[in-house]
Amino acid sequence: MTIRDWEGVALIIGAGDIGNCISDYLRTLSPSLDVNLCGRKLTSQNDIYLDLEDDDSFESFENKISLFNKPLRLVINTSGLLHSNHIRPEKRLSHINRSNILKNFSINAIAPILIAKSIEKFIRPDLPFSYASMSARLGSIGDNRLGGWYSYRASKSAQNQFLKTLSIEWRRKFPLSIVSLLHPGTCDTKLSKPFQSTVPKNKLFTPSQSTEYLINIISEQKPSDSGKFLAWDSSIIPW
Ligand SMILES: NC(=O)c1ccc[n+]([C@@H]2O[C@H](COP(=O)([O-])OP(=O)(O)OC[C@H]3O[C@@H](n4cnc5c(N)ncnc54)[C@H](OP(=O)(O)O)[C@@H]3O)[C@@H](O)[C@H]2O)c1
Repeated sequence: MTIRDWEGVALIIGAGDIGNCISDYLRTLSPSLDVNLCGRKLTSQNDIYLDLEDDDSFESFENKISLFNKPLRLVINTSGLLHSNHIRPEKRLSHINRSNILKNFSINAIAPILIAKSIEKFIRPDLPFSYASMSARLGSIGDNRLGGWYSYRASKSAQNQFLKTLSIEWRRKFPLSIVSLLHPGTCDTKLSKPFQSTVPKNKLFTPSQSTEYLINIISEQKPSDSGKFLAWDSSIIPW
């Protein structure tokens, strides 16, 4: 059975470019899934407010999920941080500072494991369930050939370790669950905008392209695939 036929609740976390695109796509693809976009910028009645750096917000998020009378089947975390008005990825060691590191870790590493903690009580051991979270090839330690971007890289590597560990715990508790770390490819979004000049045109995906690749992967996965770090084309990325 593919995602097209799944019945229940889906939560898409992070109301950014990829998050919005995945929500729209799933609403069309899977009519039996109740798709809810969760983040800070809400536009529809199906959206749930969630600030990933605020514990009270997690509490009200859990209260909202508890009101669904369908089972939770799919959670996709599309939140992430690379730059902001105050933060630029570090080109060299001298650019490192404590607050940038903490901010990157807060969103890219701590939030994905707190999301898992929040949703765990709603997972049914007798039904297939998938938690996919956006990582990045830049988080691969084995594949790091260019250096730079210390905080983003390290925070995505830390996320990988958190969710790999989670996949082992959930394999015992929820044998039908799948936890995956996905690289969406270089995609034309707010996050990549300032860094696109060196990306060849045919290597820059639209959010719709990335969405189709990601949903294909999630749709095809089996519980034995849990704990993998995969690129948009299903290839395995070295840790
Ligand atoms: N685009 C790429 O080329 C690329 C490549 C590799 C990996 N990725 C990963 O793919 C994921 C999706 O990124 P994107 O390209 O779609 O970027 P995006 O449009 O910037 O989306 C990221 C979203 O994360 C949300 N977020 C940040 N902090 C939050 C918080 N405290 N609470 C709730 N939401 C928060 C932001 O919400 P606000 O709008 O409220 O700030 C933003 O909408 C990220 O994990 C990114 O690292 C992207």
